[in-house]
Amino acid sequence: MERFDVVVIGAGAAGMMCAAEAAQRGRRVLVLDHARAPGEKIRISGGGRCNFTNLGVHPSRFLSDNPRFCISALSRYTPADFIALLDREGIAWRERTLGQLFLEGSARQVVDLLVRRMTSAGAELRLSTPVRDLSPAEPGFRLVLDSGEVLAERVVLATGGKSIPKMGATGYALDVARRLGLAIVEPRAGLVPFTLAPDFLERLSPLAGVSAPARVTTGGVAFEESLLFTHRGLSGPAVLQASSYWREGEGVTVDLAPGVDLMAHLKAERGRAGRQSPAALLSDLLPARLARTLAEAAEAPPRLGDCNDAALARLSASVNAWTFRPAGTEGYRTAEVMLGGVDTRELDSRTFEARRVPGLHVIGEAVDVTGWLGGYNFQWAWASGWAAGQAV
Ligand code: FDA
Repeated sequence: MERFDVVVIGAGAAGMMCAAEAAQRGRRVLVLDHARAPGEKIRISGGGRCNFTNLGVHPSRFLSDNPRFCISALSRYTPADFIALLDREGIAWRERTLGQLFLEGSARQVVDLLVRRMTSAGAELRLSTPVRDLSPAEPGFRLVLDSGEVLAERVVLATGGKSIPKMGATGYALDVARRLGLAIVEPRAGLVPFTLAPDFLERLSPLAGVSAPARVTTGGVAFEESLLFTHRGLSGPAVLQASSYWREGEGVTVDLAPGVDLMAHLKAERGRAGRQSPAALLSDLLPARLARTLAEAAEAPPRLGDCNDAALARLSASVNAWTFRPAGTEGYRTAEVMLGGVDTRELDSRTFEARRVPGLHVIGEAVDVTGWLGGYNFQWAWASGWAAGQAV
């Protein structure tokens, strides 16, 4: 029987950070992953450039049933810490919009860095190695692998969330946590496109591919970024962000001309240039295809001068406050993250150890802490992995 101080299950962002820190502290660490390669989500992240953190990291940018839980880890391992790690390794990065930091080169550099850090500190990485059984032993835990049994003083669940099952994502951490008696906050897909009812989608289908800046509001939270019409519904950063706050059956309001009081603008233009068409006027503010579709849908007369106040109100509402009910989301198939996860009330916020199962730690996306789009989820993975790495 092999014995380790720490077995980390999941060689992703959080698991590899944790393993490197623990191994550097002199702990004997084994990292297991059922996939053939480590850090696959890192490799494809940020369009292959890995949006590895965000300069605006703040607890308010994370969703959780217990919003204060993330404060400790986020304040102990900050974006500056990960930046320093990249700088020490000579890995170039740059800031894009909204505080988002991306690599200049390939995301593989981050995967290689994490693998190098943990293995050079002495951690052993075993890929293509599913865990057949995991049970508490006296002391620690007993793991059954195809190659035999392993005893571990501590186990870290770092298998991430359920999004993109095609890449090998599973609900393993949730299954184990449930089996060991830990509460789970119901998981659901986050940072995911909305789908629309078939008749609604058909009316919008000519807009597939059109993108526009928008303010998307749902669940009392608004995001101003771009919105993209697709063949299946709506996507783009503003929609992905809003999706994390949306609940089944709720409405969504979209302002396609944020900051413009369209009613006032239309009235002024009606007096000034009544011969132009509403669609032409709207196309000063919106992509032409979108302007045409909205003018048609509002059944506006062909000339602005012929529009009465009711027609202008219909038109401005469809631009400033377009409200609809999504049919659903694309689900885990395309979601960037899983919301929910192991209930943080079960975990110590400094060590990520389960209060009711001593020696078991849960980190990363498997925990009920989910960040906004823009590098926040990796920062959570680094911070939770680092914190557990100091404790295991
Ligand atoms: P992560 O998913 O990284 O790792 C989990 C590991 O566990 C994987 O290696 C997996 O193979 C393994 N595993 C799963 N089940 C197992 C089992 N049963 N047995 C053994 N091993 C198992 N975030 C961000 O901040 N910036 C970005 O640019 C992006 N971009 C992005 C793009 C796409 C397409 C997706 C899907 C996601 C992102 N994200 C992101 C989100 C980010 O990738 C995610 O939040 C982190 O990778 C989570 O880190 P974890 O270590 O928790 O899980």
